[in-house]
Amino acid sequence: MKVLIIGDVVGRSGLNRLNYELQKRKNEVDFCIVNGENSASGRGLRVKEYNEILNDGADVITMGNHMYYRKEMANEYKKLEKLAIPANITNLIGNKNVIVEKNGIKIGVINLIGKFAMGEMIEKNITNAFDVVIEQIKILNEAKVDYIFVDFHAEATAEKIAMGYFLCDKVNCVYGTHTHVQTSDEKILDGGMAYITDVGMTGPKDSVLGLKKEIAIQRFITGEYLHYECSNNDAIFNAIEVEFDDKTKKAISIKRINE
Ligand SMILES: [Fe+2]
Ligand SMILES: [Fe+2]
Repeated sequence: MKVLIIGDVVGRSGLNRLNYELQKRKNEVDFCIVNGENSASGRGLRVKEYNEILNDGADVITMGNHMYYRKEMANEYKKLEKLAIPANITNLIGNKNVIVEKNGIKIGVINLIGKFAMGEMIEKNITNAFDVVIEQIKILNEAKVDYIFVDFHAEATAEKIAMGYFLCDKVNCVYGTHTHVQTSDEKILDGGMAYITDVGMTGPKDSVLGLKKEIAIQRFITGEYLHYECSNNDAIFNAIEVEFDDKTKKAISIKRINE
């Protein structure tokens, strides 16, 4: 089985690139997971982007801290059955895991959020990701899934690497999102689990993590919180492609895509 995992899709240019890449690759991959937390003009996801990403060919969408920028969505997340929200968030309601059955294979996806440098709002409203993930894995195992994927949406590299080792004999793939910069540490850990610290972003290349660079520079010079404006130039495509042995369910290869 080949799985394509796409990092934080940012704004219109990210969505356009996503559409192009999924069209191009639709016959090469069996399953696709997309992080959609920045798809609505860089900030969060609305029902519109949810539908667009699924229509493009994604099987599951994961989220992150930008959920808090869309207050109008607070009562909507729970209705979106292919959307996994961070399972350790305590004050938003949505799916703590998503199970999709495709071509006779049952795949479970868990989204978690990190504790370090994620902002006060997150710190106040999460429980320990390391405890919560074990509960969620138990639920997925009881549902007899064939594969488990974990999107750990976090800033701190150490936290993500620790999660990778913690889960290396419990799930099939742990990958990081949120920093929007792809790391070059993809590997297969002892148990046959694929790992990367951050997949990177699919969004405007000439920007500061998707934000207009002039605004980002001003924010750092003045220390003021200036209004977010998503950059809209051509997007970079950041993803990983992971291949698994159908019998053992172990990862055979993990390939970074940074185009
Ligand atoms: Fe993001
Ligand atoms: Fe994020």
